[in-house]
This record gives sequence, structure tokens and C-alpha cells, in this order.
Amino acid sequence: MVLIVHHVYPQALKFIILVTLLTLSDCYDPLDPTGNISVTFDIYQRTENGYLAKVILQNNYLYRHVDKPGWKLGWTWANSEVIWSMSGAIATDRGSCANYRGSQMPHSCKKDPIIVDLGSDVSQNRSEHCCGGGILSALVVDPLNSFTSFELEVRNLGNNPLGQAPNNVTLMAPGPGYSCSPFHDTEPSVSLDSGGLRQVPVLRTWKSTCAYSSFLANPSPMCCVSFSTFYNPIVTSCNNCSCGCKEADKSTKSCIRPGDLLPSSNEENIMKCTDHMCPIRVHWHFKNNYMDQWRVKLTISNYHFKRKYSNWNVLVQHPGLSQKATTYSFNSTKLPTAGLQDGVALFWGIDFYNNELSHSDKDQVGFVTTEILLEKDPNSFTLHNGWAFPRRIYFNGDNCEMPLPDTFPMLPNGSSSLRHAANYGSNLLLISLFFVLVFLRF
Ligand SMILES: *[C@@H]1O[C@H](CO)[C@@H](O)[C@H](O)[C@H]1NC(C)=O
Ligand SMILES: *[C@@H]1O[C@H](CO)[C@@H](O)[C@H](O)[C@H]1NC(C)=O
Ligand SMILES: *[C@@H]1O[C@H](CO)[C@@H](O)[C@H](O)[C@H]1NC(C)=O
Ligand SMILES: *[C@@H]1O[C@H](CO)[C@@H](O)[C@H](O)[C@H]1NC(C)=O
Ligand SMILES: *[C@@H]1O[C@H](CO)[C@@H](O)[C@H](O)[C@H]1NC(C)=O
Ligand SMILES: *[C@@H]1O[C@H](CO)[C@@H](O)[C@H](O)[C@H]1NC(C)=O
Repeated sequence: MVLIVHHVYPQALKFIILVTLLTLSDCYDPLDPTGNISVTFDIYQRTENGYLAKVILQNNYLYRHVDKPGWKLGWTWANSEVIWSMSGAIATDRGSCANYRGSQMPHSCKKDPIIVDLGSDVSQNRSEHCCGGGILSALVVDPLNSFTSFELEVRNLGNNPLGQAPNNVTLMAPGPGYSCSPFHDTEPSVSLDSGGLRQVPVLRTWKSTCAYSSFLANPSPMCCVSFSTFYNPIVTSCNNCSCGCKEADKSTKSCIRPGDLLPSSNEENIMKCTDHMCPIRVHWHFKNNYMDQWRVKLTISNYHFKRKYSNWNVLVQHPGLSQKATTYSFNSTKLPTAGLQDGVALFWGIDFYNNELSHSDKDQVGFVTTEILLEKDPNSFTLHNGWAFPRRIYFNGDNCEMPLPDTFPMLPNGSSSLRHAANYGSNLLLISLFFVLVFLRF
């Protein structure tokens, strides 16, 4: 009887893990389930011919930022509205304004305008909280720069005194992958007046939320993970072809071998040839094992020759991160763990020191690095079974390819239980296999 239970239990566990993962895989990112970019359209004043509105973009993603060349927001007007003027942003196309003969032409007559941010160096037509060149920081990293706003005057509303919400909201941030809900009426936004004594609601508020899906974005993997330890000289490198292969992808991926000349073109994607072919590698080195603490060296390398990463961030999921950790050369914070037993920490660069991950050149790979000192929980800490390696790593919000558990650095002979290692390996293998399946499904 006992034997049967013993036999059944691991199977049941595997089944539960599979079911849980299947359920989790239906939301976008289990570590940031409510992440979204919200678009708030506040109509705050009626005018003779229309209304004045303020549009606010707020990045609610904890660790996914909107990078250069910045966001592009679009919608389709419900009737024949025109954007009479705009500050803090511009419409990319004026469209055909053939019906207007006055001395002032509308800013844009397009039925489906696309709006982009102004650069921070622009001095004319600014508005409050505007003009970051389209960049929105991740919420955890820099909340003050995670939102932006612009203002517009809308005319030609037809018979609706306060207009009708535009349809088909679209967001490129900066690439594809975002899908936006239709604008819906919500409680009017409220601002405070008279030194905070008086509440002033706007006339009307429409809201849309845009969510990222890697299925829609369909990015090729851009990052992989490698491991090493103080107790084994063998380095577990990234899987071969983690991000594509030199042979198979010759037309799309170009790489440079030592001795090759750097091309003079501005081809952004050109990178150093490696077995993994990823532009970004995250390396986790288990450096020291002390009585009550252990030390890790975390290094992020950029194999691109032309592309550097400003305001990069790296997320690490590891059980040891639920204990106190000291990070020496990066900024860091703990994130909510959404019911996981592991700890989750976000790391990013320190301003003017290493918040820019520079590109490689002929002689050196661009990198940033830090040491992390972690407290030990004596009940869970172990050198066995690959416990010391992270479970999951993201670079700029994108999942990095992990090495297979059977390639993890082994403890030297005599100190590890092979049976346990094998068991752990097969479970992890199952989980990795599962992620491969999820990835294919998306
Ligand atoms: C968008 O993000 C905000 C802030 O995290 C959250 O309150 C809201 O529920 C999210 N909306 C959706 C539709 O996920
Ligand atoms: C500022 O806005 C006005 C009205 O929309 C426009 O005519 C003018 O060209 C804008 N100026 C700049 C520098 O964009
Ligand atoms: C929204 O976009 C779809 C596809 O681009 C288009 O078929 C549809 O007509 C648009 N809806 C409106 C109201 O413009
Ligand atoms: C990865 O590629 C390198 C050289 O390209 C080769 O030596 C190595 O055996 C390969 N590893 C695997 C696991 O295929
Ligand atoms: C770390 O990040 C916080 C929040 O963004 C910021 O206030 C602080 O100055 C940063 N520290 C360093 C050393 O950059
Ligand atoms: C461990 O022992 C096996 C056989 O006893 C041997 O083949 C292997 O090289 C040893 N590995 C290490 C890392 O010492």
C-alpha cells in the first residue's frame, strides 16, 4: 500500500504542476498578471466647436518599458472629428483637409490619426508631463517617468455635444504585440484645486487598456542564460542556437567572427558570432559559500556591435531571493511573487554608472556586472540538485532561454546523491519541456 502511494505521489505532483502551468500560461505573464498600459482620454472643457481633452498614457508594467523609438498611439474617429490643435505630441499625418479654407488649418483631418511623442529637446507646443521622446519607464524602475500626457482640441463633432469615443485604439510600444480594449466610459478623472481643498472632475473620461502578448509580438528569443560555480570548473553555457543558428538564419542573422572587419553600415542587429546566437547573455556565477551567506556574481553581456541598451533591467526568480540580499553594483528591489515560494528580484543599472549596457567592439564584449550577497535559510539552502541556480530570468521583460537541467554544473564526486539529482532533473526536464510547448503554442 505504502509502495503504491509512494509511486503515485510523484505522478500526481507532476500532473498538478502541469495543470497549474497550463492555467498560468493563459495569462500574459504570471509574474506581472495585471501589467498593462492604460490610455485615459479626459475631456475637460467644452469649446464653441468641440472640446479640449488630455490623453494620459500610463505604463503599469512592473518591468517592461517602452524603449526608443517610442510609442505610437492610434485610433479611428467615430464620426468626422478633426484634431484642431495638439500640444505635447503630434499626429504623424495631416491627412486631407480639403474642406477647410480658413487661414488656420486643423492639425490633422485623418480619420485614423497616429500620434507620436515630442522629443525632450522640443521647446514649442509642450504640455504638462509631456515629451520624453516616446519612452515610458517601467513602473518599478522609475514611476515618475512611467507616464506621459498630451492635449488636443477636437472639432467637427457632428450632433454629439461631448463627442463619441474613438474606435480601434492601437498602440505600438514601440513594436507590435499590444492589443487595446475599446474606450469605455468611466468615472470622470478628478484633479485637486485650491491647494487640494477642492475636487474638480473632468467632464467625461474614456479609458482603454493595452496588454502585451508575446504571441502577438512573436519576437525571436533574444537572451539566454549560462551558469558556473566555484566547485566545478565546467561552465554550463547557453544552449547552442538558443536564439537561432548561423546556418539556418543566414539571411536574417548576421554575425562577425574574430578577425572579420566590422561593416560600416548602420545595421543595428549585427552581433558577435556565438554558439547561442543571442544578442544578450545573462551569466550566474556561484562564487562563494560562507557559513550564513552565499555570494553570486551576475553578469549581463551584449553581443551587439551597434545596439546599446539604455535603462535595461533583469528579473531573477530564485528561492534564495526570498531571504535578505545585498546587491553591490546594481539597483534592485523585491517584487511580489504571486503565490510562488521563490523570491523574485528586479535589477537595473545605477544612473551615470551602468544604466547603459554598452555594445561590443572588436576587442571586448559590452557588459554590466554586480555581486550579490544572499542570506542563507538553513532549512532550504543546498548545493544539491541545481538549487543554487535561478528558475527564471527575464531581460527587459522577455523570457531568457535556460540551460537544460542535465547540463547544470555537478557537485564533485562523493558529495551528491545521484538518485536525487536524477529525480530533480526529470521534474525540471518535464517543466522545461512544458515551457517549450507553451512557447510553441504562443
Ligand atoms: C491595468 O493596470 C492597473 C494597475 O496595475 C490595474 O489596476 C488594472 O486592473 C489593470 N487593468 C487590466 C484590464 O488589467
Ligand atoms: C505648434 O502648434 C501649432 C498649432 O497646432 C502649429 O501650427 C505649429 O506648427 C506648432 N509648432 C511646432 C513647432 O510644432
Ligand atoms: C476597426 O479596424 C478593423 C480592422 O482594421 C476595421 O475592419 C473596422 O472597420 C474598424 N472599425 C471602425 C469602427 O473603424
Ligand atoms: C555546441 O556547438 C559547439 C561548437 O559550435 C560544439 O563544440 C558543441 O559540442 C555544441 N554543443 C552541443 C550540446 O551540441
Ligand atoms: C535606485 O532606484 C531608486 C528608484 O528608482 C532611485 O531613487 C535611487 O536613486 C536609485 N539608486 C541608485 C544608486 O541609482
Ligand atoms: C566521478 O566519478 C566517476 C566514476 O567514479 C568518474 O568517471 C568521474 O570523472 C568523476 N567526476 C569527477 C568530477 O570527479
